[in-house]
Amino acid sequence: MAANYNAAPLLEVEGLRQYFPVSKTYTVKAVENVSFKVYPGETYGLVGESGSGKSTIGRSIIRLYDPTEGKINFCGMDISGKLNGKTKENLRTQMQMIFQDPMASLNPRKKIKDIIGEALDIHHICKTKSERDRKVEAILEKVGLAKEHADRYPHQFSGGQRQRVGIARALILNPKLVIADECISALDVSIQAQVVNLMKDIQEELGTAYLFIAHDLSMVKYISDRIGVLHLGHLLETGTTDEIFSNPVHPYTKSLLSAIPIPNPELEKNREAINYDYKTSGIDYNKGTEHLVSGTHFVKCTDKEFEDWTK
Ligand SMILES: Nc1ncnc2c1ncn2[C@@H]1O[C@H](COP(=O)(O)OP(=O)(O)O)[C@@H](O)[C@H]1O
Ligand SMILES: [Mg+2]
Repeated sequence: MAANYNAAPLLEVEGLRQYFPVSKTYTVKAVENVSFKVYPGETYGLVGESGSGKSTIGRSIIRLYDPTEGKINFCGMDISGKLNGKTKENLRTQMQMIFQDPMASLNPRKKIKDIIGEALDIHHICKTKSERDRKVEAILEKVGLAKEHADRYPHQFSGGQRQRVGIARALILNPKLVIADECISALDVSIQAQVVNLMKDIQEELGTAYLFIAHDLSMVKYISDRIGVLHLGHLLETGTTDEIFSNPVHPYTKSLLSAIPIPNPELEKNREAINYDYKTSGIDYNKGTEHLVSGTHFVKCTDKEFEDWTK
């Protein structure tokens, strides 16, 4: 199943702000006026260097935080304000998160089958123990693990296998959206590709949409249908993966792309990293408005910057 752009968006984030008051006089503005949409079955890559606000956006959407400002619509429900019981239940089943460090997010004292089955228990999905076992076995198989693994503990697995458990846990309720926050960053590069391929296969079969959060663009390029480039809490440039990679407009996007190593040694030798320093760039993110580059490609900047960057 491919991304369905004719359907209503699965997730609509509109003007999201997430501020953290850290003292009487200082507030961290982690996310500033961010808007984007994710369609059913789509992979939306959210990229930016460490500290740019990627995790905060993910956590605000899944409501680990109360958004400071803005609207979040998911499956036709407004999930930005106070949640009523039914909306909360919907959100907890239809949206799941996969974290960077599976070891830290998997309870070491629990068997794999109970880690994965926990959501089934919480939401009273299974009538009998054997039904629960069957569901756990089926999802283990889907993520490339064996049913014998069900009775083991997290420490008995490799990093890549543990991340498969994390994926199985996220998928057990067949959610419509999975927020994957740097879920492959801690893995060896060879294992990264395996896990990303697994996620793609599952998406193909189940139509799950992914908000794929990463600081490393090489995998993002491979897995994402569309990409949003984030810096200092501002979503600076959005478009299809092809639009972003073939025609980056914002200097920050250009610097990000220029930092990706090229697998061809001849080309890699001549690759020039573009430096970008916001402080000395003369750019004020707060003054930017959305400008259409082409197709579905947008960049946030002033009219003057847009003219300079696209001539
Ligand atoms: N709970 C919090 N309280 C205060 N500041 C925070 C909190 N969470 C994140 N931040 C700050 O918000 C900014 C964005 O953080 P984060 O979303 O974790 O970025 P990323 O995931 O892109 O690395 C950082 O400056 C971080 O220090
Ligand atoms: Mg993060």
